[in-house]
Amino acid sequence: IPVEPFDLVIFGGTGDLARRKILPGLYRRFCSGQMGEDSRVIGAARAEMDAEGYRQFVREAIDEFDAGRTCEVGTIDAFLKRLDYVTVDALGKDGWPDLAKLMGEGTGRVRAYYFSVAPSLFGALAERLHTYGIADEDARIVVEKPFGRDEASACALNGVLAEHFDESQIYRIDHYLGKETVQNLMAVRFGNMLFEPLWNSQYVDHIQITVAETVGVGGRGEYYDKSGAMRDMMQNHLMQLLCLIAMEPPAKFDPDAVRDEKLKVIRALDEVEPRDIVRGQYEAEGDKPDYRTHVENPESTTESFIAMKVHLSNWRWAGTPFYLRTGKRLRARTSEIAVVFKETPHSIFGPEAGRHRNILTIRLQPNEGMDLGVTIKEPGPGGMRLVDVPLDMTFADALGPDAEDVPDAYERLIMDVIRGNQTLFMRGDEVEAAWAWTDPIIAGWEKRGDKPEPYESGSSGPEDALALMHRDGRRWREIRI
Ligand code: BG6
Repeated sequence: IPVEPFDLVIFGGTGDLARRKILPGLYRRFCSGQMGEDSRVIGAARAEMDAEGYRQFVREAIDEFDAGRTCEVGTIDAFLKRLDYVTVDALGKDGWPDLAKLMGEGTGRVRAYYFSVAPSLFGALAERLHTYGIADEDARIVVEKPFGRDEASACALNGVLAEHFDESQIYRIDHYLGKETVQNLMAVRFGNMLFEPLWNSQYVDHIQITVAETVGVGGRGEYYDKSGAMRDMMQNHLMQLLCLIAMEPPAKFDPDAVRDEKLKVIRALDEVEPRDIVRGQYEAEGDKPDYRTHVENPESTTESFIAMKVHLSNWRWAGTPFYLRTGKRLRARTSEIAVVFKETPHSIFGPEAGRHRNILTIRLQPNEGMDLGVTIKEPGPGGMRLVDVPLDMTFADALGPDAEDVPDAYERLIMDVIRGNQTLFMRGDEVEAAWAWTDPIIAGWEKRGDKPEPYESGSSGPEDALALMHRDGRRWREIRI
């Protein structure tokens, strides 16, 4: 479905995120007919460049990141025609009149400004958009994580943005919310009768959320060493997944109704005991250096892995633990949520039938889909022996070619900005609440001088993370594709 004509200005238009995700994503939307020929994408950055130079830059980005694999030959030239570029000094005056002139040519279109820049520039950009009269009350701004590094800095950023923009104009991206399966999680929970009645501590033994990566910190050492897995992944992506899995049904699928329910989940989180958290740092493997070498900080106590057990103090979930883990340089790149149901109260088949549990697994990546482990009779004459088999719903198999043209998270989220739909974006109070929960945990590590445990690269993380579940008589699902 095409969206209305828009002008999207990307501040930081020559940066890494623009190159890898935003521009290739826009190209794919263009190819699929969603971005009409009357829309424009305007790169804005400090680099001296003209529109032609920017088009070349974007062509290379698209080639490198292969986002146009489903596009017809020749489409790229049509897309590049929709691009423009302005050299802008975010902190000064240079370039702003040029940008204002360019925007003046696009009256009547949706205006969106993507702040793909350091948060320290948000205030300056917001102010100039107003000074130069190019952000009316319908304009939208898009901001990226890291949205602060603690509650105080997140509140300060919200304050800076609120000086010039209403909350309804601010789109805070958590790209995990744009993933197909994440939305499917809501469809499955609230579009079926089957699951919701069982979705509580009476029937669910525990829930596991795993976001495992094989990559190390790569070239982002400087940023990462100041953040760690807690700030980089747990406070945002895993927290959002936890919210969607645990929230009450909103009255309707409307941005504030959904975000109100998510906020209640964050506010219901208990404080976490230090013994329920395990932090780790990856070791070297072959010619791949260890974490500390990667970040060039031999004394670093930042975690590249974290596992934790958390509880929600509310009617639905009291007594059901949530185990969350995420880390770099692990065995496989896989993200999944597993809802592990309780055993039947009594086995009519006797002890030899073994113990069985239904597990609903929601796979975010790769191989997006879900499966439900169901216990059935083992075929054959061996008597009443039970076996668990998956009812598999791999989206690509079930939905055929439709599932293949699924937009990636950024594509979907940018189009939602143009449509003015904030459902999949974080509201200011959600981000603040998530930091308010995270802050004391990090402060505790700092106060106690806690150090992360080394773990083997290519493994499932530190031994203590396994012990975190073993001591509760449970175990993590294997990290594998
Ligand atoms: C980012 C983190 O937000 O998410 C990265 O900063 C991480 O450290 C990335 O690698 C993971 O995203 P995805 O979509 O590849 O799972």
